[in-house]
Amino acid sequence: MSVSHMLMNDVLKCAFSNWYSIFQDVTIESDIIKLNPEVKSWLLADGIILPKACFHEMDSNFSEDDIEEDVDVPEFPELEASIRQSIRKYRFVFPKLNWSACEDAKWIQACGTKCNTLSEIFLLLKSSDKVVHDLTEAYKQCTDYSAESVPELEYSLVLRKWENINPSMEFRCFVGRNEVIGISQRDVRSYFSHLHRDKDQIISDILDFFRSRIRERFSLDCFVLDLYRPASGSVVLIDVNPFGETTDSLLFDWDELRSKVHAPLPPVFRDFRFIEEQFGVQPNRLEMNSLPLDVFNGNLDPSIFQSNFSNGNSG
Ligand SMILES: Nc1ncnc2c1ncn2[C@@H]1O[C@H](COP(=O)(O)OP(=O)(O)OP(=O)(O)O)[C@@H](O)[C@H]1O
Ligand SMILES: [Mg+2]
Repeated sequence: MSVSHMLMNDVLKCAFSNWYSIFQDVTIESDIIKLNPEVKSWLLADGIILPKACFHEMDSNFSEDDIEEDVDVPEFPELEASIRQSIRKYRFVFPKLNWSACEDAKWIQACGTKCNTLSEIFLLLKSSDKVVHDLTEAYKQCTDYSAESVPELEYSLVLRKWENINPSMEFRCFVGRNEVIGISQRDVRSYFSHLHRDKDQIISDILDFFRSRIRERFSLDCFVLDLYRPASGSVVLIDVNPFGETTDSLLFDWDELRSKVHAPLPPVFRDFRFIEEQFGVQPNRLEMNSLPLDVFNGNLDPSIFQSNFSNGNSG
């Protein structure tokens, strides 16, 4: 049992393709598209040079002569065809990688993370530090980490059907020893007045959902669920995350959660935490790194994003 230490196996089990195959019936419909090594290298390369298909998409008069000779503009025909297929199916998609979405980069475009073009998806992926984290250091915080023994896992782009999600109805649910040990409101930047009024019903819906749709189906006994409760009696799974520091503990802290795992469980669950007053809001971790690290550290001129769009040339 992985109680006090997060192991590489815990992280592996929480990769999207691994949990989606189990919980497909209780989560948002999604497509998983394999990423080949060329796409991975492009995602990790410095600068932002979007694939050629994006220039065609953004400018119908675009011609090959517009590309400067010394610029290597990538083309990923198979990936682009799969993305187009998902967009046709879902109309709008929410992109993420094996573990992380690109929420930290949503400032880069007006549509945020709601995408219906190749350019929107590629720009988000290229601007996100969370994508780089997934590709380079997903297992680094694990106690058994060693670069030589990282588990085999294909990198993939996940395109989820876009759903209009109301953040006041999102919750993070900490599971220890196969029991819910804590629930926190998901967006800790905000005060939502209805949470106090609805708290008993929220707890009861989440516990029912966990007991009837999640428990005994997953191979870990300590993990973290992100849940959406759009209406009374209705709960949808948004994400499964490792039980440990790689996951934000929100209104709990990890030492406390780990000690709850060891403690005898209370007969009636009561530990639902939410911001109880307007002035109790917390800073958002993502807002601390809303700029790509290259820009933040002064290695990259922010105007690169603008020039890439406006003249169709690379940055
Ligand atoms: N299909 C979707 N359509 C619209 N918005 C979505 C969708 N899926 C997720 N979101 C929104 O994006 C947020 C982040 O999604 P998700 O939890 O998948 O990202 P993440 O990178 O795993 O986050 P974390 O690092 O906190 O675990 C969710 O809280 C939800 O508000
Ligand atoms: Mg997550």
